[in-house]
Amino acid sequence: MAKLAELWEVGVSSVGKYGALAILIFTLAVAYEVAGIIYNLYFHPLRDFPGPLIQRASRLPWAIRHALGSQALYTQKLHDKYGPIVRVGPNHLTFTDPRAWKDIYGHRVGTEGDMAEMPKTRVFNKTIRSQPTSILNADREEHSRFRRALSHGFSDNAMRQQEPMIKKYVDLLLQRLHEECDNGKKALNIEAWYNWTTFDIVGDLVFGQSFHCLDNVDYHPWIEFIFSSIRFGAITVAMTYLGLGDLVQLLVKLGGNAIKRVRKYTDDMVRTRLSMEKDRDDLFEGLIKRREDWNLSFQKLSANAFILVLAGSETTATTLSGATYLLLTHPEILEKLKKEVRSAFTSVDEITISSVNKLSYMLAILNESLRLYPPVTSGLVRSVPEGGEQIAGHYVAAGTYVEVQHWSMNHSKENWKDPWAFQPERFLTTPEEAAKAGNQLEALQAFNVGPRNCIGRNLAYAEMRLILARIIYEFDLKLSDDSKNWIERQKTFALWDRIPLYVNLTPVER
Ligand code: HEM
Repeated sequence: MAKLAELWEVGVSSVGKYGALAILIFTLAVAYEVAGIIYNLYFHPLRDFPGPLIQRASRLPWAIRHALGSQALYTQKLHDKYGPIVRVGPNHLTFTDPRAWKDIYGHRVGTEGDMAEMPKTRVFNKTIRSQPTSILNADREEHSRFRRALSHGFSDNAMRQQEPMIKKYVDLLLQRLHEECDNGKKALNIEAWYNWTTFDIVGDLVFGQSFHCLDNVDYHPWIEFIFSSIRFGAITVAMTYLGLGDLVQLLVKLGGNAIKRVRKYTDDMVRTRLSMEKDRDDLFEGLIKRREDWNLSFQKLSANAFILVLAGSETTATTLSGATYLLLTHPEILEKLKKEVRSAFTSVDEITISSVNKLSYMLAILNESLRLYPPVTSGLVRSVPEGGEQIAGHYVAAGTYVEVQHWSMNHSKENWKDPWAFQPERFLTTPEEAAKAGNQLEALQAFNVGPRNCIGRNLAYAEMRLILARIIYEFDLKLSDDSKNWIERQKTFALWDRIPLYVNLTPVER
C-alpha cells in the first residue's frame, strides 16, 4: 500500500494532478475491458459455443460490421466455418438449424402471459426511446391487440375489396413502362419502378391516398427519408449494442429535424385518412375503429401507419427486383416462366389476383428469389427469458440475444443443395422429396413464424404475382450491362441498401 502511495506521489509530481488522474482512469478502463474479455472467453455461460475469438471476446466487431452494412454477409461465412450455431458477440448467438425458427419465434408451449413468446430485444427495436409504440415494438399484450385489430384488413375478404385499387396502380405501372421503354432502347431502373408501385399501393391502402410516385415518375421525399433512415437505424443499433444508448438519444435530439419532418408528414396523412368516410376496407380501418375504445393515442396510430407503409412496400419491391435480376441472369428459367405466363392468359384482363394463383412455376421463382435475396437479411433478435431455453437441441442461458439470420439460413449448405444456385425447381416437390434431394424447404421462412410473423404475407404474394405476371406477359426483358453482379455489389443493413437495376423492356407484339 505504501509502495502504491509512493508511486502515485512520483506520478503526480511528474505529470501533474490531472494528468495522473487521467492515467489512472485510463488504466482502470483498460483493466475493466481486459477483465470483461477474460470473463467473456472463459467464464461466460456461452463460453462453449463456437465463433471467432474476437467476436466471442468483444461486441465491437459485430457492431462495426453492422453499422457498415456487412454484418449479415459476414455472419453467413462464419456459419460456413463454425457450423449451425455461431457466437457472433459475447452474448449473442445466431442459428442456421431450421428447428431454431420455432424455438426462437414460435409460441412457447405451456407458458402464458409475457412468457408466451420470446420477447424482442430492445437494443434492436427501440433504439430511439421517444419513438411511440407500434405493432413492431409493442410488448406482448399490446401487440396482440394491434394484431387483432389489423387482421381484418389483411383477410381474404378485405383483399377482394382492395383488388380494384391494387389493379389501378399495376395498370398505371404497365402504362408508364410502355410510355418510357422506347421499345427496348432505353434502360429503365426497374427497381425504382417497383418501389414506386408498392409505395403508391400501400399509401392508398393505409392513408387513403397514394404518394403519386407513378404519376410523377419520382420518389416522394418521405420515401427518400426512409432510405437514409435504414442506414441511420443500423448506426443507432450498433451504438446501442455497445452500450451507447444515451448518446443515440442525444444525436437524435441534435439532428432530429429529418425525423420530426417525417413524423409531421405522416401525422398529416393520418389526419386526412381520419377525415375520410368510414368503412373503407383498407389496412388501417380496423385500428381506427378501435381507437376510442382503447383510448389509442394519435401518436401510436401514426406510428403504426408508418410501419405498415414501410413494411408493406420495401420488402415487396426488394423481392420483385431480386426475382427480375435472377431471371435475367438465368435465361433458361426466364424462358420457362414466359411459356407459363403467356400460355395461361389470352389477354391482360384475365390477369387477376385469383388467376395468377395457378402460375405454380412463378410461385417457385418467387420463393427461390426470397431464398437467394431475402428482403430482411437479419436483425430479428429475441432475448432468452428467465430459466433459459432449449434452442435447436442446445441449452441457451437467460438473457442471451438469439436470432436466425435469413441470409445465413438461406445459404447454408446443410439446408440446401447448391445453396448459391438459382433453382426454382427445388420448390416444386413435396417437402419429403425435397429433403431427399438435400433441400430443407422449412428452412425458408422469409415471413417468419409465430405470433409476430408477417401479417402482410398474402398481400405481398398477391402483389408480387400480379406485377410479375403482367411484366412477363407484356414485355421481353434484358439486363443492362451496368447492372451485372447486382446482388454482390450491395450492402445490407438488415434491409438491403438497393442499387439501381437497369433493364431494357421491349413490348411483346400480339
Ligand atoms: C416479400 C414481402 C415481405 C416480407 C419478406 C416480409 C417479412 C416480414 C418479416 C420477416 C416480419 C417479422 C418481423 C419481426 O419479427 O420483427 C414481418 C412483419 C410484418 N410485416 Fe411483413 N413482409 C413482407 C411484406 C409485407 C406487406 C405487404 C405488409 C403489409 C402492409 C407487411 C406488414 C408487416 C407487419 C405489419 C409486420 C409486423 C407484424 C407483427 O409484429 O405482428 N409485410 N414481415
